Amino acid sequence: METLSLTDEAFAQWIAEHNERVGVRLKETLRTPYSFVEEVATYLIDAGGKLFRPSLVFAAGGLGLESGSVDEEGLISAAVVVELTHVASLYHDDVMDEAALRRGGPTAHRKWGNSVAIMVGDFMLAQASLVGAKLGEEFMTYQAKTLSRLVQGQIGEMKGPEPDVDDLTHHLAVVSNKTAALIAAAARYGATFAGLPGDQVEALTQYGERLGMAFQLADDLLDILSDESGKQAGTDLREGVPTVATLLVQRQQRDEDARLLELLARPVAEADLPEALDLLRVHPAVAEARAHVKRWADEAATYLSGLDDGPAVRALRTLCEQAIVRSC
Ligand code: IPE
Ligand code: IPE
Ligand code: MG
Ligand code: MG
Repeated sequence: METLSLTDEAFAQWIAEHNERVGVRLKETLRTPYSFVEEVATYLIDAGGKLFRPSLVFAAGGLGLESGSVDEEGLISAAVVVELTHVASLYHDDVMDEAALRRGGPTAHRKWGNSVAIMVGDFMLAQASLVGAKLGEEFMTYQAKTLSRLVQGQIGEMKGPEPDVDDLTHHLAVVSNKTAALIAAAARYGATFAGLPGDQVEALTQYGERLGMAFQLADDLLDILSDESGKQAGTDLREGVPTVATLLVQRQQRDEDARLLELLARPVAEADLPEALDLLRVHPAVAEARAHVKRWADEAATYLSGLDDGPAVRALRTLCEQAIVRSC
């Protein structure tokens, strides 16, 4: 088999080219004679996401390039399954969070209603299963378990902690399930179709789990700090969804936070949102939440230490650094 050694720039190009192939495959996979279903399903795909999870599949997949053990078709199909699962979860999540904006445009449920958004999300999961079935039983079993964790994470967030479970512990379990599970799966599939030995597949899975934690916790900070994410700032506050920053504020119970604590005690009304965001943005809990992001990202990087240094390992390390930068 042909072997390949790339510069970092050429490797970034290799990932970009593979992401383009994923874009084409996503559209093919969502083709159906029911043109309305296809229109709604391709709506968010066409709006353009970051393709973070496919990029991760390929970054890990690149670990097999030097030895020539990469299964390119496997990598692309796995990336399609992961991205379809992710986008389906966005259709569903925006219904649950009553979100107005996604990927810079109105959410699907705002355009077509909750039932359509939910059913089209289900359609995408079904199409993802058709692609995944061709990758074999082991792949599909792992993917089914991943989706099971994602859904239970979403429900766990809705329901809140059991009486005997600490809020922050519950929240981190929710994040692990709703987000880190799929990001861990992306890294795992990359390692698998790179043809890596079992212990390295496991290490990449552990890396992905921790990178996924950093990714979601950074995204939660963006919900407080940024107006440029293509989503509406303050969505978590409006829905009363806890995040590390708000949980830390509530845990500390500082006298000077009386007004903020009053606002955080229930879903924040639209009219109070600017005030709540202003108070939160200058609160030390934001820096503490950032420290959580850094801790997860640094821990993720430790799982790369047993791998041969090269463009793929450097790209995987860069993803950890980017998660930290995103939260600043
Ligand atoms: C959004 O994921 C949902 C989270 C897990 C925070 P992304 O930030 O990857 O969303 P897109 O795909 O780029 O829109
Ligand atoms: C992201 O949930 C996790 C899933 C979509 C499964 P969030 O609700 O935290 O993400 P955003 O902020 O809407 O992207
Ligand atoms: Mg949401
Ligand atoms: Mg949500």
